[in-house]
Amino acid sequence: MKIIRVQDQIAGGQTAFSIIKDAMEKNKLNVLGLATGSTPLSLYDQMIHSSLDFSDVVSINLDEYVGLPAENKQSYHYFMQEQLFKYKPFKKNYLPDGLAKDADRECKRYDEVLATHPIDIQILGIGQNGHIGFNEPGTPFDSLTRKVELTASTIEANQRFFEKKEDVPTHAFSMGINSIMQSKQIILLAYGKAKAQAIKAMIEESANENCPASALQHHPEVSVIVDHEAAMLLE
Ligand code: F6R
Repeated sequence: MKIIRVQDQIAGGQTAFSIIKDAMEKNKLNVLGLATGSTPLSLYDQMIHSSLDFSDVVSINLDEYVGLPAENKQSYHYFMQEQLFKYKPFKKNYLPDGLAKDADRECKRYDEVLATHPIDIQILGIGQNGHIGFNEPGTPFDSLTRKVELTASTIEANQRFFEKKEDVPTHAFSMGINSIMQSKQIILLAYGKAKAQAIKAMIEESANENCPASALQHHPEVSVIVDHEAAMLLE
């Protein structure tokens, strides 16, 4: 893993953006893996305000809540539309369908999307418990796309976006750890002291399923972009 320390979230977004720009200029970015949450926002801002044209690039998002339609303001479809897609059109945007009736079928469909569109660069945030996507601690490293139950701590962390805790969905569709590991290159971003413990476990503990992000130790091309607070427990 290559650890890149930056001053703040803005500098982190600029650093991630320069990796994406470089890949585009070399014609090596056909499929971009995207994440939601607050972490990638400074990167999306850089993308929006750049002259880069993504209309030949396919995007694939990590996850979506089960039960929320795309028009719901808390859905990841809505988030991506508002934060990036309405400003920067892509060739095609893939996200899991939160309303899919047959969960197994939807997961299979998504794995087929991933198989036919191998991800060149995957953008990741990290949960305070070390999750990536919605792969919570204990998720097998060989997992593919599936319907997952969110942990109490993730529901708690995501509650800030909903009016009340009862509104936070309890399940999501998420790419698995193995699906994420298939990406040719990975950029994981983390800012703030709430992420410090997860960053330490991901980098310094031996890879194990209690910290899902630690699977990335086995990936050949990972850049971890961290601010001082997220990096503060690193040796
Ligand atoms: C989002 C996702 C999650 C977040 C993580 C960090 O699509 O898959 O793993 O990246 O929960 O969230 P923030 O960035 O809000 O701290």
